[in-house]
Amino acid sequence: MFSYRHAFHAGNHADVLKHTVLVHIIQHLKRKEKPFLLVDTHAGAAVHDLTGTFARKNAEFESGIARLWKRKVLPAPLADYVAQVRQLNPSAELLAYPGSAQIAHQMLRKQDSLRLFELHTTESRHLIDHFEHAAPRVSAKAEDGFAGLRSLLPPPSRRGAALIDPSYEDKADYQRVIVALRDALERFATGTYAVWHPIVKRRESREYAERLKRVAPGDWLEVSLTVKSPPEDGFGLFGSGMFVINPPWTLPRALAEVMPFLVDALGQDAGAGYTLQSEIA
Ligand SMILES: C[S@@+](CC[C@H](N)C(=O)[O-])C[C@H]1O[C@@H](n2cnc3c(N)ncnc32)[C@H](O)[C@@H]1O
Repeated sequence: MFSYRHAFHAGNHADVLKHTVLVHIIQHLKRKEKPFLLVDTHAGAAVHDLTGTFARKNAEFESGIARLWKRKVLPAPLADYVAQVRQLNPSAELLAYPGSAQIAHQMLRKQDSLRLFELHTTESRHLIDHFEHAAPRVSAKAEDGFAGLRSLLPPPSRRGAALIDPSYEDKADYQRVIVALRDALERFATGTYAVWHPIVKRRESREYAERLKRVAPGDWLEVSLTVKSPPEDGFGLFGSGMFVINPPWTLPRALAEVMPFLVDALGQDAGAGYTLQSEIA
């Protein structure tokens, strides 16, 4: 049904931004002892082999995580993210990259729970097998993540976050995310919702951040990283953004430290840059 395979893109600049934000959100939730629920609506595979054919095809990780891997000094929020990748790579060599589900699993405490959804047949099988041992704290289902999110809110502990990370292969995903966020906020208004989105030369992509901001006026943060100038042929991902509703209060400051560093480390030409905006009541 889906042709998108995240393995081709694992560890690229978009994963670096997305997973840095994810790690920060989870760390923030862990500041309190009370359990939390984390929902990953579009989980992908758990672990990506960077030596495998998929990852090596375009070697996107080489202009992403690989550029941070050997850095001795990193801003603290980036160091926290790289530490999660290191857990999978105990030798100094970068051989594997964790998907969002694996990062979340590594960071979870015994009182927290993780709910994963993935529709791609191969990816979901891999995910379900990989996390079988962690049940019931972690569960993975080959089901639609939007419906899954709806069924889980509000969490019994009234603490939680969701990562919403579609591939936007289907243009309808733009609208599906907006509908899912409105519904989620009705069910669980204080949840943190983190939405990844691509920056490509496409009308939907340009208008999307503005549409997202209107879903939760006064309670959002939007960060984007552009690694190069828009390609002349109009194709390809030259940047991405993370839009977060009810962001941790510590996130704006963390990203203000991280983003200039990322532009410097991952930027490929003079078109590289970042934006960071928030409206937090
Ligand atoms: C960008 S990838 C996920 C990457 C992953 N979150 C990470 O950060 O490592 C998007 C995934 O969503 C899956 N997918 C697409 N539509 C879905 C849906 N409605 N529900 C659940 N999964 C879906 C695709 O098969 C794909 O594996």
